[in-house]
Amino acid sequence: MPARRLVALLILAALAVVAGAAPATAADRWPRGFLWGTAASGFQTEAGGRPSNADRRSDWWAFANDPGLIGEGVVSGDRVARGPGFWSQWRGDLDRARDRLGSNAIRLGIEWSRIFPRSTATLDLGERIDSGDLRRLDRVADQRAVRHYRTVLAGARRRGLKVMLTLNHFTLPLWVHDPLAVRRAFAGRAPDDPVPEGLRRGGWLDPGTADEFATFAAYVAARLGRHVDLWATLNEPLVQASQGYVSIPGVTGVKAPGVLSYPAAIHVVEQLALGNAAAYDAIHRQRPGARVGLVTNLLDWRPDDPSRPLDVAGAAHADQVFNRLFLDAAVRGVYDTNGNGATDPGERRPALRGKADFLGVNHYSPARAQGLGAPLTASIPLFDFSPHQIFAGHGSPMGLPCPTTCTDFGWEIDPQGLRHVLAEAAEYGRPLYVTENGIDDEEDDQRPGFLSSYVAAMHQAIDDGIDVRGYFHWSLVDNFEWAEGFRAHFGLYAFDPATLRRTARPSVRAFRRIARGS
Ligand code: FCB
Repeated sequence: MPARRLVALLILAALAVVAGAAPATAADRWPRGFLWGTAASGFQTEAGGRPSNADRRSDWWAFANDPGLIGEGVVSGDRVARGPGFWSQWRGDLDRARDRLGSNAIRLGIEWSRIFPRSTATLDLGERIDSGDLRRLDRVADQRAVRHYRTVLAGARRRGLKVMLTLNHFTLPLWVHDPLAVRRAFAGRAPDDPVPEGLRRGGWLDPGTADEFATFAAYVAARLGRHVDLWATLNEPLVQASQGYVSIPGVTGVKAPGVLSYPAAIHVVEQLALGNAAAYDAIHRQRPGARVGLVTNLLDWRPDDPSRPLDVAGAAHADQVFNRLFLDAAVRGVYDTNGNGATDPGERRPALRGKADFLGVNHYSPARAQGLGAPLTASIPLFDFSPHQIFAGHGSPMGLPCPTTCTDFGWEIDPQGLRHVLAEAAEYGRPLYVTENGIDDEEDDQRPGFLSSYVAAMHQAIDDGIDVRGYFHWSLVDNFEWAEGFRAHFGLYAFDPATLRRTARPSVRAFRRIARGS
C-alpha cells in the first residue's frame, strides 16, 4: 500500500474513534424508522450492456458523446454506454441493496427524456393537470418506459425498500435543452455579457422549462406515485447553476451546457426555484399526502486563513451563495435576484415559499474560501471570494495539491463537516435526510473509515437534537461520473462493462454492519 494511502487510512481510523464510531453499530441508538440505503441517478447508471439500455434523447447523452467537447477536454470521452446497465440489471442490484447491504430504502432517479421523449409543450393542457390532461399525456409518453419504471419501483417496494424518487438529477430531454446549441450561442461572449436572447431549447435558461417540468412531475405522480414514499424534485440546483453556467474545465466541475456567464447562472437559480415550486405543487395536487422535498449539496465553508478577515468574510459569502441562496428561496420565499446578500424590495416571493416538506442534504467535503476584497462580477456582488473545494485528483486533474487528506477525487475529508451542514440545514425547520455521501476510492482502502466516521458525525448531529431521518450512500455501483466519466469509483460495488458483473468491495460489509446495527 502506498505511504499516502496508509497515512490516510490511519487518519481515518483515528477520526472514526474521535468521532465516536460506536453508535454507528448500535441499532437502538438510531431514531425509529431510520432509513439506510444507497443513492443513484438514472442517467449515471441505466446505460450499459445492451445498446437498448441507453437513452439517446437526453441532453447529457449529446454532451458527453460530443467529439468537439471530448477533444477540448470538457468531458472525459468515456462512453456513457459502457455503464453498469441498471436498466436491465435492476433486479440484481435491488437484491444486493436488500440482502447484501441490509438497506431498507433506496434513492433512485427517473429520466424525464425517457418518459417524454417528445415535447409536451405543444399540448393544450390546463394550468392544473386533470384526468383529461393525463390521458392526453398518456399518448405522448413512452408507455414502455412508464411500465419499466413502474416495475422497478414496485420491485423496490416488494423488497421492503422505501423509495425516494428524484425527478431531476441534472439531465433534461433534448427537446428542452440542446447543450451544444446553447454553447454556440454563448461563444465569444464575456462572462458578464447579457444572456443571448431568443434561445431555443435553452434548458433552465428558458422560462418555459419550469412549467414543462411541473407537467412531468404531475404525470409521474399520477401514474407512478403509488410506488413512491419520498419525492425529490431537484438534485443540487446550485451545482447545476454554478457548474453549468460558471464553468471552467479542469478547474471547476462541469455540468451541461458548461458555459461561463454570471448573469445566466443567477437567472438559472431563479428558474430552478420556480421549477421546484411548480413541481412541488403539481405532485401535491395529484397526491395530497405526498412528502416532497428537494436535494441540496451543502459544503462546509471555511476561511482559507481563519486569521484573515477577508477570508472570514469570503467564507460567509460563499456559504450564502452556495448553501443558502436556493434554500432561502424554496423554504423562506426570499430570492436574492441581485446577489447582494440583502433582502431588497421585490425579493420576497411568496409563490416560491414553503416548497419543501423535507430537505435532502448531499455532503461530500468541506470547502475553503479566500476573500478577494472585491466582487468577481457585478451580477453577484456577494461573489467576492475564490472558492476551493477540489484539489488535484480525478475531479480536477490540474488542481492544487491537497492540503490535508483527500479522496481520489480531490475532495478533503473531514466528517465534522457533515455535522456542521446538518446543523445549518436544520435552521430551515424541515426534517432532514442525508441523500448523498460517499467517496471515490477504487481500492476501497479509505472508504470503510470514511463511512464509519461520517455516519458517526451524523449520529452526533442527531444527538445535537437535529431531526435526521435517513442516510443514503453514493452509490451502490460505480457509475458514470458526469464530465469525469468512469475515472471516479464511488460504488460499494465495481462492475465489469463487458459482462455487467458486479464485484463487492469490502465496504459492502461495513455498510451492512451499520445498516443492520450489528
Ligand atoms: C453529486 C451528484 C451525483 C454524483 C456525486 C459524486 O454532486 O449529485 O450525481 O455525481 O456528486
